[in-house]
Amino acid sequence: MAQEPYSPRRSVLYIPASNDKALAKIGSLTCDAIIIDLEDAVLPADKKAARDKVAGILAARPERRCEMVVRINPLASEWGTHDLLAVAKAEPDGILLPKIGTPRDILEAGDILDDNFAPDSVKLWAMVETPRALLNIGAIAELGRDPAARLNCFVAGTNDLVKATGILADRRYLMPWLMQLVLAARAGGLDVIDGVANDFRDLDGFARECAEAAAMGFDGKSLIHPAQIGPANRAFSPSAEALAGARAIRDAFARPENAGKGVIALDGKMVERLHLAEAEKLLAKAAIIGA
Ligand code: COA
Ligand code: MG
Repeated sequence: MAQEPYSPRRSVLYIPASNDKALAKIGSLTCDAIIIDLEDAVLPADKKAARDKVAGILAARPERRCEMVVRINPLASEWGTHDLLAVAKAEPDGILLPKIGTPRDILEAGDILDDNFAPDSVKLWAMVETPRALLNIGAIAELGRDPAARLNCFVAGTNDLVKATGILADRRYLMPWLMQLVLAARAGGLDVIDGVANDFRDLDGFARECAEAAAMGFDGKSLIHPAQIGPANRAFSPSAEALAGARAIRDAFARPENAGKGVIALDGKMVERLHLAEAEKLLAKAAIIGA
């Protein structure tokens, strides 16, 4: 299940476990979550050394609340099971499973964690980056309803989806799949993070992509470079305009003449109790973020 109460995952930064210079920056980064990567960003020759570093990286985690997640290699690969066992011992907040295709892939990882007495606080995150995962997404998301399955968050793997399907690398063609992913995440009560923007020098384009992802319902964005943290945190925080609207709805329902009413008119628009619930959720979210 997604986190209750709300805990932000606006900015989720990948750091290759093989990049010491980037790892040294962890304490100064203002992202909501960090994914230490053992998979695509690490060459086969460096996999073992990278895995051996994870415990030390997690032990030195910053005091400031920043979720620490580790992306392991696929369980079917020669590194996967070793990665999972070693990483579980270091007790990260999450273990990100790449290239999943079916609910079984999640259950299998969860069983290994249970068998090795990993605490319940170690959650599973899943990369959605294969055609099979997208075709099975409803059944996979359903595991979010069972806390014992540990499934907590979906991450869109847009580069791998482009590669696996042969579509042009353009958001227009990814759109139906991304919207389906958001829908499935909501059905399963999971958080869902949009894929990366490879062109990390184009921060204007990045801000536009974040605004679009927020409008699509994503909770945050996958990042590859520290310069992307600020724009992502802004885009996935409630805007001043949205907060003013939420306060107006809350205040309107609090007026004595509206007590006990299910639906009211506010500035010429119909407002129902469901809008009040939505407004209260947004205000609570803003209070937690400090917006
Ligand atoms: N996390 C933390 N710090 C990072 C970082 C990251 N993901 N990416 C870059 N930095 C640091 C660099 O180490 C550099 O530090 P310095 O100022 O001490 O020299 C600083 O930010 C500026 O980096 P810059 O020179 O602009 O970029 P680069 O050429 O060093 O690196 C990439 C560019 C794309 C290779 C690098 O950002 C990266 O590896 N990103 C993550 C890729 C990844 O994990 N992919 C897998 C998931 S898709
Ligand atoms: Mg991938």
